[in-house]
Amino acid sequence: MRQNLVVFTGAGISAESGIPTFRDANGMWGKYDAMKLASVAGFEEDPQAVLDFYNARRKNLLEVEPNHAHRVLADLEKQYDVTIITQNVDNLHERAGSSKVLHLHGELSKVTSSRNRLDPKCIKEYPLDVPIRLGDKAADGSQLRPYIVWFGEYVDGMELAEYWVQQADIFVVIGTSLVVYPAAGLVEYAPSEIPKFLIDPKDLKGGLPAGFQHIKAKAVEGVDELVRRLESKDFIGRLQPPQDNNSPQPHPNHQRPMVGGLWLIDDMRFEGLGAAVEYGDIVDALCRHVGRVGGLFAREDGEILRHQLE
Ligand code: OAD
Repeated sequence: MRQNLVVFTGAGISAESGIPTFRDANGMWGKYDAMKLASVAGFEEDPQAVLDFYNARRKNLLEVEPNHAHRVLADLEKQYDVTIITQNVDNLHERAGSSKVLHLHGELSKVTSSRNRLDPKCIKEYPLDVPIRLGDKAADGSQLRPYIVWFGEYVDGMELAEYWVQQADIFVVIGTSLVVYPAAGLVEYAPSEIPKFLIDPKDLKGGLPAGFQHIKAKAVEGVDELVRRLESKDFIGRLQPPQDNNSPQPHPNHQRPMVGGLWLIDDMRFEGLGAAVEYGDIVDALCRHVGRVGGLFAREDGEILRHQLE
């Protein structure tokens, strides 16, 4: 069975393609006022300025190409079930060949209604070289607007994204400052026992989310290191038991806490690893991504279960 490799990307992955990030030096929000150009209030106040901003970004998309990082993620589909969850509004993942991409913050290649952004009959592909003009109408007769999630608007893909992250066997985060919620909260949904990687060239100091290995590099280089680690499986030995084995903490997203553990074939015990998930899930998930699990014991409602794997 193929493993689920879930990748969560932000502006950093497209930086080497020539699309500026938002919060780095020379970032978009250093030059432009986000509240004027990326909010409903800003659009109501000066729709022309907002359309000009997005028309320029739409046109620019025709001039840029996917980079090595986008292509490596597409290539990983040969070995894994890859799901890309991106905050980016460009189409570089798709153009590199990724087949399962969820855009949390919208897509520059689409337009929609300014009365009801999520009305399916108003959302449509729109040629990137055709500017959206004042007076262009959506199917419901309202002013056409870019299909972008502006600040304060509902992020309709979150539930699906959370579900996918919960199903991950391996979770990779690339090029995001993890400051824009709710998207940034996705890292909390990854199962506690799976390998997690974060690729970002900046020094994260204390800002690395729990359980992540930091690959401190630009995306175009970091993906090669990621592939190396996945191939060598040298993350296996890095699974860490919780600090306090006597009180495993249930994962906040799971309803049924379980006291449990597993052992590897060399009989090293990782107590408490299974604390958050149901018995079968632990065995399945760990066998799939670790491949060296010898067995599992668990105690739920006072019952001791012991399961020796074949
Ligand atoms: P940010 O600009 O906030 O963060 C970019 C991240 O990418 C930073 O952590 C950088 O260190 C990192 N980075 C820079 N160059 C990189 C490279 N070559 N390779 C890898 N990483 C690199 O961008 P996002 O986190 O994506 O929302 O921003 C989140 C949201 O804020 C965006 O989707 C956008 C913005 O407002 C909307 O427009 C709705």
